[in-house]
Amino acid sequence: MRPFGRTGALVSELGFGCASFWGRSMFPEAQAIALVHQALELGISFFDTGASYGGGVAETRLGLALKGRDTSRLLIATKAGPEKINGKVVRDYSPDAIEASLARSRERLGLDTIPLFQLHGPEIPEMTDALFERLWQLRARGWFRLLGLNSFDQEPLDWAIASGRFDTVMLDYNVLRADRAALIGTAAGSGMAAIAGMPLAMGHIDRQALKLRRPSDLWYLARGLAYPRHRADMVAGMRYGFLREIEGWSAAQAALGWVLANPQVSVAVVGTTRPEHLAELAMVPGRQLPQAVMARIADTQHRH
Ligand SMILES: NC(=O)c1ccc[n+]([C@@H]2O[C@H](COP(=O)([O-])OP(=O)(O)OC[C@H]3O[C@@H](n4cnc5c(N)ncnc54)[C@H](OP(=O)(O)O)[C@@H]3O)[C@@H](O)[C@H]2O)c1
Repeated sequence: MRPFGRTGALVSELGFGCASFWGRSMFPEAQAIALVHQALELGISFFDTGASYGGGVAETRLGLALKGRDTSRLLIATKAGPEKINGKVVRDYSPDAIEASLARSRERLGLDTIPLFQLHGPEIPEMTDALFERLWQLRARGWFRLLGLNSFDQEPLDWAIASGRFDTVMLDYNVLRADRAALIGTAAGSGMAAIAGMPLAMGHIDRQALKLRRPSDLWYLARGLAYPRHRADMVAGMRYGFLREIEGWSAAQAALGWVLANPQVSVAVVGTTRPEHLAELAMVPGRQLPQAVMARIADTQHRH
């Protein structure tokens, strides 16, 4: 467990991401729910989802998985901003749209109070005073407890940290994004909880998307090819082939071990559709990557 910023709460350093293929209707619901139950049994206390994931399917699934469970010690996080409406993803950070999205999230998740509500990828001009005024009203009404920002862009993250309005930031942090450590340090230094999303670099350090054994792999490959940034990660991931050769560690475990070696990260949120992968990752907290491996990762990062 690690401190969750200035909140006084503790969080498991491994979190479970209810996004990606896990939240798609083509991934069987029973398997998705079983993974959440496995995560709970492993002691995972942080679950991250979003209104846009799977067009709402991901939130509904997480709600079903948590039904009847004691959620009082869990940090359940969702997001608002982009959302699929009539088959199209619409970005809307107006106070009314954010309130409506939060209302739907409470319903789907079966929670009166969302422990962590995050703005999902807004630009700075979209984070208006009117929006914050509404958010404070909704917080006072008990609709959510903590406010976070999820962004992969430097400027909104800098702005959010300096604003003092957010309790958490979620950003992409993995062996391919070592440069994020500076932002994480600033956020943690201001008392915010830093949440590492994509800690396994979306599986690219393990060539996960090239293995093509299941429908999920085809989806991961399509996602990897869809955006220039992801395509670049697939290529950059090839440089970390040495992570597959560490005794006692799989490549995914090593990638997670590197993220958790940063004490300013509160929680690393992994995505998986396989119970054996989750079990393997749950063995990482408490272990330290050998110094020689840390040095080789640093050297590879430095050279590229
Ligand atoms: N990706 C984004 O753009 C994004 C944006 C905002 C927030 N986030 C948050 O970050 C979470 C994680 O992101 P992510 O799922 O995109 O990336 P990730 O956790 O870095 O990587 C997931 C990939 O790693 C594979 N994997 C998981 N465990 C493995 C293991 N033990 N061995 C080998 N491969 C393994 C998964 O495949 P299997 O399914 O086969 O295990 C999947 O292909 C999300 O769920 C979300 O909460 C992500």
